Amino acid sequence: MCGIIGYSGKVNGIPLILKGIKGLEYRGYDSFGIAFVDSNHLFVKKNAGKIDEIIEEFDMNSLKSNMGIAHTRWATHGKSIYKNAHPFMDCNENFAVVHNGIIENYMEIKKNLKGHKFKSETDSEVLVHMMEDYTREGLSLLQATKRILSEITGSSAFAFISLRDNKIIAAKNGSPLVFGIGKESFYISSDVPSLIDYTNRFIFMADGDIVQFSSKSYKIENVFKRVRHRIETINADGVRYEIGNFQHFMEKEIFDQFKIWESYKNLDLTIFEKVLVVLKEARRVYIIGSGSSYYASLYGAHIFRKAGLDALAIEPQELSDYVKILKKGDVFFIVSQSGETYDIISILKDLKDNAKIGLVNVMHSSLSRSVDIVIPMNAGTERAVAATKSMTTTVLTFIIVYSMLINDRTYKDIELLLNGRFNIYVPSVEKLVNRVSEMLSKTREIFIVARNEDYPLALEGALKLKEVSYINANAIDMATLKHGPLALITSESLVMAIVSPSNEKEASNNLEEIKSRGGYIIGISTNNMPEFSTYIRTVDAGIFYPLPIIFLFQLLSYKTAIRKGIDPDKPRNLAKSVTVK
Ligand code: G6P
Repeated sequence: MCGIIGYSGKVNGIPLILKGIKGLEYRGYDSFGIAFVDSNHLFVKKNAGKIDEIIEEFDMNSLKSNMGIAHTRWATHGKSIYKNAHPFMDCNENFAVVHNGIIENYMEIKKNLKGHKFKSETDSEVLVHMMEDYTREGLSLLQATKRILSEITGSSAFAFISLRDNKIIAAKNGSPLVFGIGKESFYISSDVPSLIDYTNRFIFMADGDIVQFSSKSYKIENVFKRVRHRIETINADGVRYEIGNFQHFMEKEIFDQFKIWESYKNLDLTIFEKVLVVLKEARRVYIIGSGSSYYASLYGAHIFRKAGLDALAIEPQELSDYVKILKKGDVFFIVSQSGETYDIISILKDLKDNAKIGLVNVMHSSLSRSVDIVIPMNAGTERAVAATKSMTTTVLTFIIVYSMLINDRTYKDIELLLNGRFNIYVPSVEKLVNRVSEMLSKTREIFIVARNEDYPLALEGALKLKEVSYINANAIDMATLKHGPLALITSESLVMAIVSPSNEKEASNNLEEIKSRGGYIIGISTNNMPEFSTYIRTVDAGIFYPLPIIFLFQLLSYKTAIRKGIDPDKPRNLAKSVTVK
């Protein structure tokens, strides 16, 4: 999973390519490289490391070119070292390629490519040697690309520069790719925001699409099926995104949640009403998501069951267990911030006969284009790797649907709910939050315990502490404690307990069990409890009670990351959008 970008136009495109690729850094950030044409030569500059450092290393800001492609990498095949950074050139340095995805049969292909000098351990490099062979056999750039597309398996988006043809050719099958149309300039990219400063006119490429372009013209066609390629105009304001006065995107995105209500002011409930009709007729509702989206789904399934639906949250990789028992009336409620997560997109082919509702943040994404009804997640752009405001708005959406399911007078009730908005955070606990984050920064392990519907919130809190603070955080259902995990509790143990008002009574016994074994308990609750060693008060938000808890864990993991010197926007080994298997 990586980000790719390309440009061909009348003016120097290097500044655009460098800015654009920075915008794609959320897709991977362990190496970066650029290929460009200058004075009829093809150049490649690349290395392992952060984009800014590599730009400086090669003084890239002083380069000039009217045609180039670039790549930001998240290693899958081959370590994150110089030789594995994209772009790759063929043996004669006529072509350079960047690739996002995985070529599953690359070993087999490599064996058949005779006499080539491979310089990397990656799967992607085969593409450029295939291009070299096929064009040498007499195929045109387009014919060679078609053949490549038909021979590789797995999901891919790739782009070649051809020095000979003075063109870029790019293809998509399974990984995202958009084609941007400007004035005497054309672009490709893994996403729209990276190009929005340069054009707002896009063709959202379909699987099987191949586009070739120079500064003068472009041609797009699909090799799998008939596709009408519509140019769509995107509202740039809705896509542009700056960090403002914040240090990190994660910090900005956490605090953006103070204004979350603004995006719900003019909430259009007609989409929700359509959703309600589908849900009420469903035999069973499968709610599917990965990572934070899965934990939000677990919460959603819980409250949907409370509203009388047969709802089950599963992760996409579990679907194969259910395929045989699926019935036509089963409805899929699919949650994904990016709308591009491979595990999610890859299950869609098994759900052809089922109604699909997508809860998606990135409009124009693969998921939003493949479902029957799209509910916008309403979180606004999210850049930091860890999901923050999208988690909150996903849970909020589930609560809105739940509330409509249990009420008939839908409009009024939702308005009442949203008008009765509350502060998501009590600033008076700031000191305590800092103290707890200091404790967290000194621990390698923590247990987060919770019961019933609080448990998904514990899972999400633990995920945040893992991804950005590198703490081995274990979420444990309080009811499960006595079935094994209690053996881990000693006087050294740091335990966080999430206790919402309805669970206080039951939780009290479990917390006693922890306390009597010497565990130090940090309580996260609207009410203090005698079992807590430290207590962080959360706002009493009624039906919205999960939101302040979710917020608090985000803040704690952010603050802890900063104390530990971790860049919370780019934690090691992760990427925001996982577009590989
Ligand atoms: C990655 C991210 C997680 C995110 C998950 C699902 O694993 O690191 O933070 O929750 O993908 O992403 P999605 O875009 O499908 O919601």
